[in-house]
Amino acid sequence: MGLHGKAVVVTGAGTGIGAATALAVAARGAAVALVGRRRDVLEDVAAAAKDRGAPRVVVIPADLTDDADVTRVAATALAELDGVDGLVNNAGTGRFAPLRDADFADLRHMFDLHVTAPARLIREFLPSLTRRRGSVVNVTSVAGSLAAPNRSFYGATKAAANHLTRSLARELAPDVRVNAIVPGPVDTPIYDGLPLSADDLAEFRSALTAATPMGRFGDPAEVAPWICALLDDSASWLTGVLLPVDGGRCA
Ligand SMILES: NC(=O)c1ccc[n+]([C@@H]2O[C@H](COP(=O)([O-])OP(=O)(O)OC[C@H]3O[C@@H](n4cnc5c(N)ncnc54)[C@H](OP(=O)(O)O)[C@@H]3O)[C@@H](O)[C@H]2O)c1
Repeated sequence: MGLHGKAVVVTGAGTGIGAATALAVAARGAAVALVGRRRDVLEDVAAAAKDRGAPRVVVIPADLTDDADVTRVAATALAELDGVDGLVNNAGTGRFAPLRDADFADLRHMFDLHVTAPARLIREFLPSLTRRRGSVVNVTSVAGSLAAPNRSFYGATKAAANHLTRSLARELAPDVRVNAIVPGPVDTPIYDGLPLSADDLAEFRSALTAATPMGRFGDPAEVAPWICALLDDSASWLTGVLLPVDGGRCA
């Protein structure tokens, strides 16, 4: 039981929920591969993960919208970690816009990042995950089920990620478990990248706070333990679960 001695790949591990997850996995004694585009932030998390006790930490800079990079990530992680027990498909981005102004390249980009890359990574790791009775956790979003104006492209790709989770849970059982964590608003740098003025961003954040029964944004450290729980063998009878970690947003 537990993650001690296991090997876990975390995408989007340089910041936010992914960084918190990498540190939580490290603290539980697992080796970890950190994936994202920016090497510098990954190196910072790698140093912290070693301090927390990870027996091995591998940094793999990669753009997951690039198929060749995805293949390289898998080959590197498998070689460096000597196989993989867990995969956390967490990398993501929020490109929000009303349909009349939206760029369809953003829809393609988010579909590549939120659906295609996770599916490709699962396939690349499947022999190892199957041999080791592994676990996949996809980090999706409440936006995959809650309809909202100006976020239709983001929500559609997250709905697809939820569907991918449930479909692959059925297809890959009993060898590999596939679950999703469905976050509500969590305080991470994802909000810095939104195409909003400071005033509009403040208004957006206070609307999200008001719509969240717990009355505040979550912290990444409040999400990471649930990702670890789904990776853990103690969740051995859980697959196809879409677990809201959302301050009651979807209650
Ligand atoms: N924060 C929230 O309120 C919230 C709510 C619901 C769902 N989520 C989901 O939670 C996940 C984590 O987001 P977060 O909130 O923790 O935001 P974040 O801090 O911005 O983390 C996203 C990570 O994804 C990486 N990434 C983005 N594009 C990438 C690409 N093309 N290739 C590889 N890595 C890429 C980023 O690193 P680089 O820029 O270095 O590549 C970044 O570290 C996302 O899937 C997001 O949709 C977040």
